[in-house]
Amino acid sequence: MVEEIVDSGVGAGPKSAKSNGKPTNLVPLSGETESAARVITGIAELDRVTGGGFVKGSTLLVGGDPGIGKSTLLLQSAAALAGRGKRVIYVSGEEAVAQVRLRAQRLGLGEADVMLAAETNVEIILATLENGPPPDLVIIDSIQTLWTDRVDSAPGTVTQVRTSAQALTRVAKKSGAAVVLVGHVTKDGQIAGPRVVEHMVDAVLYFEGDSSHTFRILRGVKNRYGATDEIGVFAMTERGLEQVANPSALFLDQRDQDAAGSAVFAGMEGTRPLLIEIQALVAPSPLGTPRRAVVGWDNSRLSMVLAVLETRCGVRIGANDIYLNVAGGLKISEPAADLAVAAALISSLTGAALPPDAVFFGEISLAGGVRPVVHGALRLREAQKLGFKSVATGRLSAADRTTGLEVTEYGQLAEMVSRIAAQGKMPVREEDVW
Ligand code: TYD
Ligand code: MG
Repeated sequence: MVEEIVDSGVGAGPKSAKSNGKPTNLVPLSGETESAARVITGIAELDRVTGGGFVKGSTLLVGGDPGIGKSTLLLQSAAALAGRGKRVIYVSGEEAVAQVRLRAQRLGLGEADVMLAAETNVEIILATLENGPPPDLVIIDSIQTLWTDRVDSAPGTVTQVRTSAQALTRVAKKSGAAVVLVGHVTKDGQIAGPRVVEHMVDAVLYFEGDSSHTFRILRGVKNRYGATDEIGVFAMTERGLEQVANPSALFLDQRDQDAAGSAVFAGMEGTRPLLIEIQALVAPSPLGTPRRAVVGWDNSRLSMVLAVLETRCGVRIGANDIYLNVAGGLKISEPAADLAVAAALISSLTGAALPPDAVFFGEISLAGGVRPVVHGALRLREAQKLGFKSVATGRLSAADRTTGLEVTEYGQLAEMVSRIAAQGKMPVREEDVW
């Protein structure tokens, strides 16, 4: 245990800043407003996630694993904004100026009009920002390297990270610049991760991906000036990050169409439809307690789908080892994936490959029903755009039934199970065996 003493300044508690106890002005809710002024980067995938560009005077946190591409993304955005005549300051606490220059040259951005500094002291950074014309965008890479004179602890500790972030948030509000803080997600308890500043910034984006795949997803998890749950899709190439305009095609690229256990889920990420392959492998278990391994989906959701298949549809699946994988390293959180997961499981169990041109979506209830989900029309249109011919789902509203796809609406999960199992090589239900 190490005591950290915060005596005054931005990180100071109530001890040093006495309130005067005077009443504040109350104003009616129905007052004048102005819409937030934004700086648009022109990188469409990034602008979508921020809700239409960086908001002036706001602070935005970009979190992600080390090496995922945060610095690359922000250097590219900095260059894009500078190209639009904005004043951009990039403060690197991790790399020397020469290293940042080298990276910029490799990205073909060597000539970009971005101002650089390699600095980690907050007071010096604040003084630098006040010196000269006011910037439109300030990038701090990364918040964990900063330290302020006000706090008596090592850079990267919770107090340092929080105090530095607070100081920079004030600069954003005061100067009207958009401030972007980079934060490494860390598993090491010594170093404070981006979560400790999430509550004080206006927007939080996470940059995700898997080092074995080239694509990266920028995901909004908090946004005071726009919708969250939007994603931007990029691919990491030798020329830096490139936007992926048609992510569904990317995620389905390597699909093994004739293999049993693969189902295409028509999902939604924010306002954008996305087709994703779900792979299941069901194998007889040599163990007393069968294995369940899930990548990219919720473990307890899988247990629920298995229990419904077992109890409501009479499928004997519980004694098997079950592996479920969302292809491409993507993570799905929508309950609408239930039906696609069930289809992949039954397909693997019976050895019956699903039609390669079919997509699935629908939520499964504990009673074994298939519940309709939102955005049916968007999902159908995306499937049609990518050449799919048929859809299995719950009941659709008339408004959603607009495409020329062949739609099968299941009220009960058992109906879909019988249909898939009828193609299969193995009986799955007790009735079929007796
Ligand atoms: P970086 O932006 O430094 O990650 P972060 O700031 O999140 O730690 O990205 C580092 C990785 O990106 C590195 O492993 C190499 C890869 N990379 C490319 O594949 N192409 C490129 O053009 C660049 C600049 C990096
Ligand atoms: Mg970096």
